[in-house]
Amino acid sequence: MGSADWAERQQILLAAGILVTGQDTKKKIENLPDLTPLIEAATSSQVHVLSSRSIDELLMLVPSSESIEISTQVVKSAQATLPAPDNPSPIGRVIAPIDSPKITPAPRPHGLSHYNLADFPMLATDVDSEIEIHFDITGNSVTEGKMADMRSCFSDRLKKIRNMMLTGGILPRRPISNGEAWRNRQRYSSNEYEVTIIGLVNGPRWTKNGNLMFMVEDETTQIQCFLKPPAGANPLHAALDGLMNDDVVGVSGHFGGDQTDLFFCSNIHLPPLKPRAKTAASADQAVSAAFLSDTHVGSNTFLEPQWQKMIQWFKTDSLAKTIRYFVLSGDGVDGVGIYPGQDRHLAIKDLFDQYGKLATLLEELPDWIDIIILPGNHDAVRPAEPQPALTAEVQQYYSDAVFVGNPCDFSLHGVRILSYHGKSIDDFVAGLRSVTYAKPEMAMRAMLERRHLAPSWGGKTPLSPEPEDSMVIGTVPDIFVTGHVHGQFVSDHKGTTIVHSSTWQDQTDYQRMLGFQPKPCILTVINLHTHASASIPFA
Ligand SMILES: [Fe+2]
Ligand SMILES: [Fe+2]
Repeated sequence: MGSADWAERQQILLAAGILVTGQDTKKKIENLPDLTPLIEAATSSQVHVLSSRSIDELLMLVPSSESIEISTQVVKSAQATLPAPDNPSPIGRVIAPIDSPKITPAPRPHGLSHYNLADFPMLATDVDSEIEIHFDITGNSVTEGKMADMRSCFSDRLKKIRNMMLTGGILPRRPISNGEAWRNRQRYSSNEYEVTIIGLVNGPRWTKNGNLMFMVEDETTQIQCFLKPPAGANPLHAALDGLMNDDVVGVSGHFGGDQTDLFFCSNIHLPPLKPRAKTAASADQAVSAAFLSDTHVGSNTFLEPQWQKMIQWFKTDSLAKTIRYFVLSGDGVDGVGIYPGQDRHLAIKDLFDQYGKLATLLEELPDWIDIIILPGNHDAVRPAEPQPALTAEVQQYYSDAVFVGNPCDFSLHGVRILSYHGKSIDDFVAGLRSVTYAKPEMAMRAMLERRHLAPSWGGKTPLSPEPEDSMVIGTVPDIFVTGHVHGQFVSDHKGTTIVHSSTWQDQTDYQRMLGFQPKPCILTVINLHTHASASIPFA
């Protein structure tokens, strides 16, 4: 290849935002018959500099001419990508395409042992709809995005959660301000003269000896705290599990006196979350609600045959006839331009066509069901949470649905439901040892325990600095539902039913490379009177 040819190739790569380093890399590029697959693999993997190593990794994602021939006989796989740069997982490789699962009828009406039809006593058609919205940001966002709004948001959070601690009677003594504690640090320098302070956590980290260090900041000043795990502590104790940036905590302890300015915590206090009895819909309103999220319509991994199987089930199964509400907690469509290279993974490339298709699919549900739709991070609304409802332009596709923001706090027949798409689970996975993508329910538990849906500013969850922090969980719900992570889980935490709702998207290439196995096509059904739950699989 002449130098003119190389210059042309270099120009093409530069135009695609890709820089080449090293003679070795140049040679490999010169030997390629076509640059397009390499550019697509690099763009999808967010690789902007090609080195001798990164080009080898990317070329393993590029189908060879042989594999292209084979792929005409099997299910076509979408562009594989390298793991995201901030992900420590090992480099992914192209995995052989797999056959689509065979569709068999749903295992109802009598195939599941974990629930009893007697727990779902009432037909949905016998009861009028009763939805009461307690919080929805739609039309109520007042932030101007200024520093003053952010300050107000954090002091509102601190005030609300501090009040929960004070009125909940969980503190050993009346707390004092950080400023007062600091001024009197000589006096509070032994465990006989302990004080309690409350503030926002900043920069939690473990020392090499396994102790937790973090700053606690209130309106007056910040204090460096040191927390040693108590002997025999539960792994979920903050000293072992960790803290999130911007959590509100109380700490009791004393200063180090002349030796150090450190505050040695003898105890850490989270807001109270006492076991409680659920509110139940009355016996003459014993209908059910179904929970789902992350349908990702428009993606080429949306599982349409399984959706048809669910529609059949709705038309024939007696349990389906008890379902009065269908809550879709975000990521209804896959969206457009959500991540680099998404185009290759889309079966429907136009955003409005995606929403149109979702509307068609939801239309097939029986008309006795009220559909409640929240947005998620793939939807066409502002990503900063709280997110407002989908726009009127999108809503016009739907003949009959209730559009709300994310999160939304509402009641169905008096049963309090907090639905949140769950983007902050990404931050909880990074921040707490107990939370993994395979266990998103542990993030939900952590949200309830700290009475906040998304504490960390500047993490993976974009937050809107509303002067009132409505991500605080003011009222503990009877049912707490999230999605986003594409798992499925139902359990109880201190009287709140935790529902991590399932997706309708098959495993993506990216998830496959990370070794993550989603749990798609499971409808979670909860009776609002008995609180019995059923998880119906359609995969
Ligand atoms: Fe999703
Ligand atoms: Fe999501």
